[in-house]
Amino acid sequence: MLTVKLNNGVEMPFIGLGVFRLDENGEVEKAVASAIKNGYRMIDTAYMYHNEAGVARGIQMSGVPRSEMFITSKIGNDQQGYESAKEAFYQTLKDLKTDYLDLYLIHWPLGKKTLETWKAMEELYEEGLIRAIGVSNFQIYHLKFLFSNCRIVPAVNQVEFHPFHWPAELYDFCREKGIQLAAWSPLMIGKAVKIPEIKKIARVYQKTPAQIILRWIHQKRVVIIPKSSSTNRIIENVSIFGFVLENEDMTKIEALNKNESLVDGRDRIIYLLEMLWKLKFNKTIYRLLFSAIYSRFTFGLKSKRA
Ligand SMILES: NC(=O)c1ccc[n+]([C@@H]2O[C@H](COP(=O)([O-])OP(=O)(O)OC[C@H]3O[C@@H](n4cnc5c(N)ncnc54)[C@H](OP(=O)(O)O)[C@@H]3O)[C@@H](O)[C@H]2O)c1
Repeated sequence: MLTVKLNNGVEMPFIGLGVFRLDENGEVEKAVASAIKNGYRMIDTAYMYHNEAGVARGIQMSGVPRSEMFITSKIGNDQQGYESAKEAFYQTLKDLKTDYLDLYLIHWPLGKKTLETWKAMEELYEEGLIRAIGVSNFQIYHLKFLFSNCRIVPAVNQVEFHPFHWPAELYDFCREKGIQLAAWSPLMIGKAVKIPEIKKIARVYQKTPAQIILRWIHQKRVVIIPKSSSTNRIIENVSIFGFVLENEDMTKIEALNKNESLVDGRDRIIYLLEMLWKLKFNKTIYRLLFSAIYSRFTFGLKSKRA
């Protein structure tokens, strides 16, 4: 498996299986075991996906030793803060049945609270419990805010990255600062394979549209974590290392950018309603609501439109 060296020397696979929306009851473990059988060595999960225990079962089912795997998880918004970040981390270790994480990310920026979270993560890293620490959904101004208040520069920033939304400025900034970008929703939750220009390029290379998109992201040296519940598509998505896109085709795909995010207001409202239901209106919900509103209006969640 091809890897990239992070700013602390840790090798991170260029491709992993994303497991968002893979159900805890069977679906996620089957996908994880199938991915590992077909050569994947990285799994991207999060506390918010409610499937870390299923990921652990999938890894166990595969028979591949923990030491050969690269496991990423993310700290949820309602887990942020110094003490709660540490508690959350140990719970994640327990759910994933492991005694360390390869990469732990802050899932979303959350104002000043993020600094407390980061401090806890720096300490866990220094204790040797996490091999690399990073962030997700951080824009340049979030990163600058973090830099002026942290000791350790994030190793990774995981952001929305696909043909209709690839943040050129952030891409340059992260490369300059030695922060590895990772692409979430690289296939636009499946919609990207229908883009006519991508289909046209796919015909020329005799590859699938998904392979063209994933290869484009790979050639931009960005880590990819496509999600799939189907073994055929899991294999299709990892079969991108035997061909090279010409510069002209790279440019054509880059030109599709519209800065059009998949995360719109409707998604966040649905997410909040789901959480309300799950949490049965206890006080956590007020913290959650507050943090969502705070991050939306004070710190910003969407990238600036060009
Ligand atoms: N940090 C963050 O805030 C954040 C946010 C979103 C996602 N993520 C991470 O990024 C991962 C990937 O993003 P995502 O799950 O939102 O979406 P995605 O990987 O862009 O797309 C997944 C969807 O595409 C379909 N698909 C997969 N391979 C395909 C192929 N070869 N051809 C056609 N369709 C294909 C899948 O269907 P089947 O399952 O039926 O194959 C699924 O519906 C997540 O799982 C998660 O780990 C992180």
